Amino acid sequence: MTSKQIDLIIKSWERISHEPQLIQKFYDKLFEIAPETRVYFQGDIAKQSEKFAYTLGFVAGNIERMDKIKKDIEELGRIHSKLLIKEEEYSYLKEALLITIDEALDGGDNTETIQAWDHVLTYISDLMINVSRGDKNKKKTFFSKIFST
Ligand code: HEM
Repeated sequence: MTSKQIDLIIKSWERISHEPQLIQKFYDKLFEIAPETRVYFQGDIAKQSEKFAYTLGFVAGNIERMDKIKKDIEELGRIHSKLLIKEEEYSYLKEALLITIDEALDGGDNTETIQAWDHVLTYISDLMINVSRGDKNKKKTFFSKIFST
């Protein structure tokens, strides 16, 4: 990440994070792009929205020290692994979020800002997916050990 990208993330989050409908718009967009993901969200969507918004703020607030929050993101990946979230669903989430951010920023050319968010969301998604792959491999080894004896 360049210092310009870091700056764009911080400034854009400051601009859009107070929009009350931001996360609702994001979920609407996600369910439009990938309606099949709706079934995952059986719990309280308002509570989930709060957690998701908090996490985005947490990421934006720690954008200059991403290495420090790596473990927290990986832990989040483990939660998602248990929820059986599929790898391709991370791309749908990213697409929905980038569109939502672009629309919330409103007007002007947001290309560089969206590229910066794309960068950080790809980084986070990759961390979460890799942890999930690691967990699945561990499980495979465990079961293959049992069944090969
Ligand atoms: C950048 C990627 C993502 C981030 C930052 C993120 C963030 C979060 C957070 C903070 C939670 C709450 C965890 C807790 O309760 O401790 C959560 C839960 C959840 N996430 Fe994600 N998530 C991501 C990707 C996804 C994807 C791709 C899906 C599926 C489309 C998904 C579906 C869910 C579901 C179903 C829950 C549980 C909701 C509930 O408890 O009702 N997430 N996510």
